[in-house]
Amino acid sequence: MSKISVSSPSNIALIKYWGMSDTKRTLPANRSLSMTLSRCVSLCTLETLGDSSPDEIYWRGEDGTLEPADPIMRLGIEDHVRRLRQCSDFWQPLRIATTNTFPTSAGITSSASGFSALAFAFASLFGQLPSTDPLSGLARLSGSGSAARSVLGGFVTWPGDADDPHSPARQLAAASHWPLHDIIVVVDGSAKATSSRIGHQRALSSPFYQRRQQLLVERFRNLQHAILARDFARVADIVECEAIELHLIAMSSVPPLFYWQPATLSVFYRVQQLRRDGLDACTTFDAGPNAHVLCTPEHYPQVLAAIRELDGVQQIIQDRIGEGPQVLTQALF
Ligand code: DP6
Repeated sequence: MSKISVSSPSNIALIKYWGMSDTKRTLPANRSLSMTLSRCVSLCTLETLGDSSPDEIYWRGEDGTLEPADPIMRLGIEDHVRRLRQCSDFWQPLRIATTNTFPTSAGITSSASGFSALAFAFASLFGQLPSTDPLSGLARLSGSGSAARSVLGGFVTWPGDADDPHSPARQLAAASHWPLHDIIVVVDGSAKATSSRIGHQRALSSPFYQRRQQLLVERFRNLQHAILARDFARVADIVECEAIELHLIAMSSVPPLFYWQPATLSVFYRVQQLRRDGLDACTTFDAGPNAHVLCTPEHYPQVLAAIRELDGVQQIIQDRIGEGPQVLTQALF
């Protein structure tokens, strides 16, 4: 019997993956670029069981006790494990426990961290898998494309090249290159009504979708250069333009997907004001109402203080750029 425990981070996309070129293989229509987070991570412990046992799947609650995973989580994990087994040929039954270090009811997606943690734990338990890019591709088998980027730390690109069966994510720069903060501003902690998967499918119905694909070529290149040059003003312009465009595509899809709430825009306006006042801060969003405010270490205390004064904020999670998955010495059971 063997056992392994790992952690794997969430990430925030600065150039968004929105729309798929291949739904079966979870390949994106465009390249994306993300920043791996440090505090928002999933933990996962896997243990092999005797040959005739069924798989056991647990969630570890905030009080540290293990409870059977709820049906939706169980289904997602079972699906992912089935696909991992198919491409690795390891069929031994497993006891699986997972949890998140961030509040699960905060409206922060945990699929990237959760599924990459499971893939990393699986690959570590059973050794090297038959593929040139085991981890990024394995994480993506879950159907969560953003999980492909969570296997690396720092700034990460995911080309999503349909001609490359592995289409791995790659590191653009290590976390130490630029220790940016991400202040996650939760304005609505409820689970989103429409999944990203439906959003990806619907994106193609936006009349602006094709134009976005054209614009992204230069935007992607410019953002890479701005990150490598640590040019915050340039990063801020590109990141905010991209965040608005994600929502523009969502809002103009048929039927429309509308995620913003009044407090979402309050954060956005306030951060723009802070930037005009000379602070390095900018806002981006996932497919949801919550804001991620990126800022430099020098200006972090002032930006945080300003965000704390805003109305309509339910919760603030203070995160920053981080490393990729790690093997842990402490197990969940
Ligand atoms: C807007 O299909 O990876 O966050 O499985 O819910 O994590 P989840 O979503 P996924 O799509 C991510 C959409 C996005 C942009 C991005 O992360 O690139």
